[in-house]
Amino acid sequence: MFDSFDTSAAWNPDQLKEKKDWIFEINKEASDYIAENIKKVFEPKKDLFDYSRDEFDLGPILENVSNAAKKAYYGYGLSLIKGLPRNTLNNQEFKLLIWAIGLHLGVARPQGMFSQYISEVKATGMNYRSDAGRGYNSNAKLDFHTDGCDLVGLACYNKAMEGGQSLIASSVTAWQLLLSERPDLAEVALENFYFSHNEEQIPGECPYYVQPLFDFAKGHLFGKWNWNRVRTAQKMDDIPKLSLIQLECINFLEEILRRPDVLFTSWFEPGDLQFINNHVILHSRTGFKDFEEIERKRLLIRIWIAPPYSLRLPDSWKDFWKSIDPGSVRGGIYGKNYDNKCRLFEKRQSELMGMTLPSSLST
Ligand SMILES: [Fe+2]
Repeated sequence: MFDSFDTSAAWNPDQLKEKKDWIFEINKEASDYIAENIKKVFEPKKDLFDYSRDEFDLGPILENVSNAAKKAYYGYGLSLIKGLPRNTLNNQEFKLLIWAIGLHLGVARPQGMFSQYISEVKATGMNYRSDAGRGYNSNAKLDFHTDGCDLVGLACYNKAMEGGQSLIASSVTAWQLLLSERPDLAEVALENFYFSHNEEQIPGECPYYVQPLFDFAKGHLFGKWNWNRVRTAQKMDDIPKLSLIQLECINFLEEILRRPDVLFTSWFEPGDLQFINNHVILHSRTGFKDFEEIERKRLLIRIWIAPPYSLRLPDSWKDFWKSIDPGSVRGGIYGKNYDNKCRLFEKRQSELMGMTLPSSLST
């Protein structure tokens, strides 16, 4: 159980800088082609659920996009597409492009309180440290965390005026260091921690869930971390307080993630699309300052995807993920507006992708 293992997801920043096979460039001709296609299909008032995969011809970029997503899932946990048509699309058309890419990769997952299947990551004044605080609507420096889905796609439309640097660490590398330097704390990390749903739970659902920080399934390591949600859970009356050894484990893990031989920093450029496999990568970003003009404010478009080729998850992941079956429609934050429209979209898209729905959601 305590065996560390070597996969390409156990990288250090120098290796990532040296290898370029996780970066996929889209040339101008391909970029123009898909921009034209998106403009043809885009209807300003149409609901995203009412578009179907086959309406989008991603022709010259489909192979790159699909390879990049698989590279993130099975390779370094990270990949980057450069050169999406940022300048020829307005932000709503750009959003539709990311939605179209998601329709080709798997089943999009809901992402929060409003059950939204695509999020505009931008500062709207959200207090990240409040009980319902989420990072994607704030300009705060974020804690290292994993998102609640197998694959996250984050596309840049506008950079910030200042800051907003992307911070990434391999949770496999972090686990290996934790295990070799402090095996006593590695053992603690395999025990359950309490995470808050940050008031985004489905009506009637418990406001928190439990999960270890690391666990294994079929020989693969899976990581999970979110200090903000653990901190918020600590304010709830019926949750045990973190023990001194758990706090030591958290602090040690946080220290590992910021080491120069662990932390990989980069800057998003407009037209970039980053994929992350949340099971093997922890991510964060620095705080940022926006430009005054609305049209220049930092804007990223985020999609959460359950891909058909996902691996079995550890048993301990079931509480949050609803399903641990490989290739199933799992993860996501269902939120308060999860309704029949969402169910119908998931049913239709899962059938198209040959994926199974968790039994609790397939009615
Ligand atoms: Fe995130």
